[in-house]
Amino acid sequence: MKRTKIKDALSMSGDNRKILIMGWVRNKRASKNLAFLAVNDGSCLHHLQVVIDFDHFDNHILDDVHTGASVAVEGKLSTSQGTGQNVELQAEDFRLLGKADPNEYPLQPKRHSLEFLREIAHLRFRTNLFGAVTRVRHAMIFAVHKFFNDKGFYNIHSPIITGSDAEGAGEMFQVTTLDLNKPPKTKDGVIDYSKDFFGKQTNLTVSGQLEAELAALAMSEVYTFGPTFRAENSNTVRHLAEFWMIEPEMAFYDINDNMDLAEEMLKYLVRYALDNCIDDLKFLEQRRTNEEKQKPQNERSAMSLLERLEFVVASDFKRITYTEAIDILIESKPNKKKKFNYPVESWGTDLQSEHERFLVEKHFKTPVIITDYPKDIKAFYMKMNEDNKTVRAMDVLFPQIGEIIGGSQREENYDMLTKRMKDMDVPEKEMWWFLETRKFGTVPHSGYGLGFERLLLFVTGLNNIRDVIPFPRTPKNAEF
Ligand code: 4AD
Ligand code: MG
Repeated sequence: MKRTKIKDALSMSGDNRKILIMGWVRNKRASKNLAFLAVNDGSCLHHLQVVIDFDHFDNHILDDVHTGASVAVEGKLSTSQGTGQNVELQAEDFRLLGKADPNEYPLQPKRHSLEFLREIAHLRFRTNLFGAVTRVRHAMIFAVHKFFNDKGFYNIHSPIITGSDAEGAGEMFQVTTLDLNKPPKTKDGVIDYSKDFFGKQTNLTVSGQLEAELAALAMSEVYTFGPTFRAENSNTVRHLAEFWMIEPEMAFYDINDNMDLAEEMLKYLVRYALDNCIDDLKFLEQRRTNEEKQKPQNERSAMSLLERLEFVVASDFKRITYTEAIDILIESKPNKKKKFNYPVESWGTDLQSEHERFLVEKHFKTPVIITDYPKDIKAFYMKMNEDNKTVRAMDVLFPQIGEIIGGSQREENYDMLTKRMKDMDVPEKEMWWFLETRKFGTVPHSGYGLGFERLLLFVTGLNNIRDVIPFPRTPKNAEF
């Protein structure tokens, strides 16, 4: 018999049809005559209740069946007598596929801390929480591709190994096959990378943007969606050393078109989650509400998870310049009362996530897009404004998250771009290919990067970025 997924079984009527299911036991309850197994196969949040009638089975059939065991059950799908489910499976044929010793299996049917679950990331998929996160993550991946495909964008696979540092921040993981114990040296005593695998120094990419620009300047509208790597030693709940980024790049778009697309995309993705993941989102909301109850009244968030998602879809993102943002922050209560960890004193300082969240959560109470940042705190490729002080950058800030998107209009003028590269010590010679697009048929263009895990933090309402990626990579942590 062909296996039926539990998600499908739960949507069937209990008309005693025969089905076969397979999955993992989440819980076992037994009485003298009957036993109930809650079985989950990951296809949805809910378990299927399997009923074992000891009139039909040997009394010892479940002796080795505990939480975590895998089973295959064939039987009749009937209307459930109990509460909590519409249908249940009356077992007729039962097979234990794999045991899970209750003295060793770390997941028991109770609430485990997220910290503990991170230590057993190989098993945490088997919890309701990570099942939900995994399904939402999948739905969001699919929605990203659907959004851009429906708009006629082309997906570009940008390289993972590169020779350039797109963000110029020097936070790269090196890729080499040289023997680190005795690397070849040049006459001057420095490492001779011409002997390395690629004949030059290479690293894992921090962004697919530069290559996306090359493609956009022919295909008009493209996007990348790939892993990116940053060796920044910031052990925060919003940073990963390996994260996934969505980077659309569009010819003929100015900064305003860029903002419009970013806003439309974020609303589309959140709407998609609401329309397609409601069971999982309700579970995540309940979890969050319970967690909020532990907090003091004044720290609780005013909205539930679903309210917050609906709110973002319905809101108009507030658009302000960096200069306006700084004025607001300098005059703000927490700044005057010295409540910020990083006091805001003057124009030119970078915004910290506490400032971003103040603007979004306290001041405007809506997502905010900040544009026109000082040139010195942004990357070399951003288009210079007429004031020669600010660049056409845009950061999208979200409640709970802070920066979720960073992007800009790009400098398309060859002379301006080379000047910026000189000023910022970006190696012009190695980036000849990037510069040639400004020599041959250059056009105004724009793009941005959405941190995929930051989006998932927002959609799931979880607090720690390590809990929205299956196998987080952070400083001192690359287990699994
Ligand atoms: O602002 P960033 O550094 O921009 C870029 O990389 C541009 N090349 C994007 C572009 O214009 N095509 O990063 C973009 C986004 C951030 O807004 C944030 O959401 C996410 O990527 N991000 C991280 N997410 C998790 N862990 C990290 N260490 C991250 N660094 C950035
Ligand atoms: Mg940024």
